[in-house]
Amino acid sequence: MSGVIVSPSILSADFANLERDIKKVEKAGADWLHIDVMDGHFVPNITIGVPVVKSIKQVTNLPLDVHLMIENPEEYIKAFAAAGADIITFHYEAVENVEETIELIKSFGIKAGMSIKPLTNPEDVLEYLPLLDLLLIMTVEPGFGGQQFMQDCAEKIPVIKFLAPENLIIQVDGGINAETARICTQYGANSLVAGNYIYKSADIEQAVKSLKD
Ligand code: DX5
Ligand code: ZN
Repeated sequence: MSGVIVSPSILSADFANLERDIKKVEKAGADWLHIDVMDGHFVPNITIGVPVVKSIKQVTNLPLDVHLMIENPEEYIKAFAAAGADIITFHYEAVENVEETIELIKSFGIKAGMSIKPLTNPEDVLEYLPLLDLLLIMTVEPGFGGQQFMQDCAEKIPVIKFLAPENLIIQVDGGINAETARICTQYGANSLVAGNYIYKSADIEQAVKSLKD
């Protein structure tokens, strides 16, 4: 056991068979379930909202890792927490007041995560690391599954790792497969989001296992 948290992204699942596809990753040994919320403004795509998170909560015991790719996330955090999110991650680029947003998430007794896009420098967020449970380093431009992993984004991991408190979870998301996962974990990431690599695989169990090894 490596202690790496694997969080399959249901963006690559079959939305008409969501429960079935959630059970598949649950059985395969997933640690969390990654839910990508997009608003068509912060990113050029629209996906899942609060009612779907609420329904997912009814069919799984996996912690719900909710990745908000939306503008004004502070207006929706309460609703996502009430729907059953266990971790809420907002984007640094989407908020005016980072500290208030982190405090708001924590006020619901859940984990607070913050994410940075490929063009955001790790140095810009160092002051917030002690307040966070998780920092998500995007390894693609957010918006769509199935994109190519960006190596230069992964190079932010050691910068964060070196200066972060011991218990900060460092997550990566975008283009993660067995090979890119190895690069990221060697750099110090300890949570891996993967959509296409897991859901488009012929053997989901093996795919999840390969990320953990
Ligand atoms: C992209 C999303 C990701 C996406 C990853 O904006 O945040 O979570 O589902 O998909 P893959 O693993 O296919 O790159
Ligand atoms: Zn995501």
